[in-house]
Amino acid sequence: MDQYQAQWSEMIAAAIDAEAGERGIDPAARADLAFETPPSADLGDLAVPMFPFAKLLRTSPAAIASAVAARLASTAGASDGTAVAAGPYVNIRLPRADVAASAVPRVLAEGDVYGRNALYDGTRITIEFSSPNTNKPLHLGHLRNDALGESLSRVLAACGATVRSVNLVNDRGIHICKSMLAYQEFGAGETPESSGVKGDRLVGDYYVKFNEWAKQTPDAEARARQLLVAWEAGDPDVVALWKKMNDWVLAGISQTYEATGIHFDAVYFESETYSSGKDEIARGIEAGVFYREDDGSVWVDLEPIGLDRKILLRADGTSVYLTQDIGTVIARYNDSPFDRMIYVVGSEQIYHFRVLFYVLELLGYEWAGNLFHLAYGMVNLPEGKMKSREGTVVDADDLIAELTELAAAEIRAKERESAVENVDETAHKIAIGALHYYLLQVGANKDMIFNPRESLSFTGNTGPYLQYMCARVNSMIRKAADRRIELDSHIDFNVLDMAEEWELVKLVARYPATVEAAGRDYAPGLLAGYLYDVAKAFSQYYHDVPIITAPSTSVRTARLALSRAVLQVLRNGLDLLNIPYLDAM
Ligand code: ARG
Repeated sequence: MDQYQAQWSEMIAAAIDAEAGERGIDPAARADLAFETPPSADLGDLAVPMFPFAKLLRTSPAAIASAVAARLASTAGASDGTAVAAGPYVNIRLPRADVAASAVPRVLAEGDVYGRNALYDGTRITIEFSSPNTNKPLHLGHLRNDALGESLSRVLAACGATVRSVNLVNDRGIHICKSMLAYQEFGAGETPESSGVKGDRLVGDYYVKFNEWAKQTPDAEARARQLLVAWEAGDPDVVALWKKMNDWVLAGISQTYEATGIHFDAVYFESETYSSGKDEIARGIEAGVFYREDDGSVWVDLEPIGLDRKILLRADGTSVYLTQDIGTVIARYNDSPFDRMIYVVGSEQIYHFRVLFYVLELLGYEWAGNLFHLAYGMVNLPEGKMKSREGTVVDADDLIAELTELAAAEIRAKERESAVENVDETAHKIAIGALHYYLLQVGANKDMIFNPRESLSFTGNTGPYLQYMCARVNSMIRKAADRRIELDSHIDFNVLDMAEEWELVKLVARYPATVEAAGRDYAPGLLAGYLYDVAKAFSQYYHDVPIITAPSTSVRTARLALSRAVLQVLRNGLDLLNIPYLDAM
């Protein structure tokens, strides 16, 4: 597809230039060449508007379209396709059998790596996502963050980047001290083993307990603060308790990552980096880019970027969130230099990252311009459903368990237990597919409502629908194998002459460009929408057209090859979205 577009782009530009030359005008307009999709496939496969050239050629777009089409009639060969004028457009019809004959075998030959492209060849991209706090389990917001971060990591790698995914665990600070204090008060030696409660949940429960207790206990906050001071001073008992409780949380959170298919190449801990930005602040003062107030606090003036001013070091010399992030990103760069760094963090931190990037620029880091904040919006449940025990956040494990139960109920209701073999495992994969697809299909910047039931529907624009389509194609291919239908014999693509087949060929051929677009825009959602189009188109085809029962061997073989290409594309795309593939459903 891409190569056809490139060829036509050359030919059309040459035709326009020739038109210009004939009128004694300097040819100049190649950059204005745009490709669109005609409103209906009968009109052609590509449409190139001539509006941008009217001024240059001093005539109407329609007149240009006719002139260009006339020229193309003699320059284009049969293997390029044909061009016709349609009003102000030049419409192009591609040579269908040729496109199919190049696209379908390519998909089948490249298999799992089909879709890889060179967009980010040689580019090192660090991507930070998840970044939980260790005083409680992951919640629905983290699931959106993780879905975006993991999927984008995979997409960028498919675009040729050397990706380094990192997690920044906020394992220190007042929040964890609150859990620790409540545990000291009420814990009575409870452990995840003794209580059978997952470690992150256990520590989260003590955080909730602290907040209840603090309402009746005037010195609770002060005592938590004392614990933080003791921790910073390295008090061995406090550090030991901190370490123990952190390990519980991290073990629990790791289980959730495992269950959702999330992985990191490196994990950074704020306890190890929280004081590291301080030298940079000193350097900034010396360089005159930061200033000190009379009380000793250090500030940066944000006037040049249209903001107020921001504190970098408190009067008592302690650092703030921003200072820590300055230290962390420098450490990261030194560990493993990057050409770009993407932070997947909620949109409530847009200000924070704007300031961070600006401060790094002031400090003279030339890579500061290559930092990017991928901000994402809030995610909530439909009102009244599934509130966690704190009543405010939705626990990630609870949500996954609920989705898994619903999926298992659906499998039983459809009497598919024996077809899927392992009901629990399949239900879990459907749950993860439902979750990730639903979270990714919405643009990152938008707030959204996660509707568990809707996400699990086997028929709409959902993950399970895509999984189901894979399972159906897969089962058909298995049947074909049982009937010993030849798969790899010579395929005559001329027999794929139906409109539905041409649609599918074009879709399948467009997959690499779609991956590229998702990588360029940091938008896995583009891929989600595309996969839905593929699944819908195939569903229609499968419904209307006999494939393994087609009347002749050549038609059967060609249709089967096309179906296998569709399956491969769905499979590769689902993998980039971190949606489990299912053989049977
Ligand atoms: N742990 C922080 C929070 O829960 C998010 C950290 C974002 N990453 C960063 N480099 N500042 O809000």
